[in-house]
Amino acid sequence: MQVEYLYYLPDEFKASAVRLYLNALEEKLEPILGSGDRAQEVLASNIATENCLVAICNEKLVGIMGIQTNEGGFVNPSLKTMKRTYGILGGIIRMGGLAILHHKTRIDELYIDGVAVAHEMRCKGIGTRLFDLLERVGSKKGIRTISLEVIDTNPRAVALYEHLGFAAVKTQTLWPLTLVVKFPFRSATLMVKKIG
Ligand SMILES: CC(C)(COP(=O)(O)OP(=O)(O)OC[C@H]1O[C@@H](n2cnc3c(N)ncnc32)[C@H](O)[C@@H]1OP(=O)(O)O)[C@@H](O)C(=O)NCCC(=O)NCCS
Repeated sequence: MQVEYLYYLPDEFKASAVRLYLNALEEKLEPILGSGDRAQEVLASNIATENCLVAICNEKLVGIMGIQTNEGGFVNPSLKTMKRTYGILGGIIRMGGLAILHHKTRIDELYIDGVAVAHEMRCKGIGTRLFDLLERVGSKKGIRTISLEVIDTNPRAVALYEHLGFAAVKTQTLWPLTLVVKFPFRSATLMVKKIG
């Protein structure tokens, strides 16, 4: 199995990246963006193709890791896009939902916006390789920490991150915000790995 890794998302893989990302991060994103075409549209027109690492196998996108620096993230919907897609009120409420998930990234930090590997390609080391590459990129840029947030319904991901050297530093309980945005999880834990 030959897997190629790239430091940006080529245009021809944009649509499949959006599908993979939405699918894998459904629990976080569907309560805010919905599940249909509108969510795909919002992402397709608001992803920063240079803020990610991707894995390609047999000319298919099989993995993606969105990266946020202090200058911006992988998924950056503007209020204008949200209002155009969901209407004025719907757009404002959904921007509020996205704000709940937002992480403020320091200058010496890389925050993983989301990581997803295609279902049939999981447990073959692709996710681990994406983490390795990110660490290498970070070290070259003088980054000191890599961080991510994991939800309480994803214990397998927590085990993987611990195995990769991440440690939990803070857990945020989303109640009572979950009364407004119907997230199917109760809390999100910030995990950090020191690399510098
Ligand atoms: C988490 C994920 C990116 C890991 O990618 P991967 O290529 O399967 O990872 P690797 O092959 O390097 O490592 C495999 C490990 O990931 C763990 N893992 C975490 N979530 C998993 C999932 N949903 N399915 C399969 N394995 C998962 C496995 O336990 C496995 O460990 P093991 O081999 O000791 O059993 C991938 O499984 C995935 O896309 N999951 C769904 C989306 C998700 O949960 N994203 C993280 C949000 S914080």
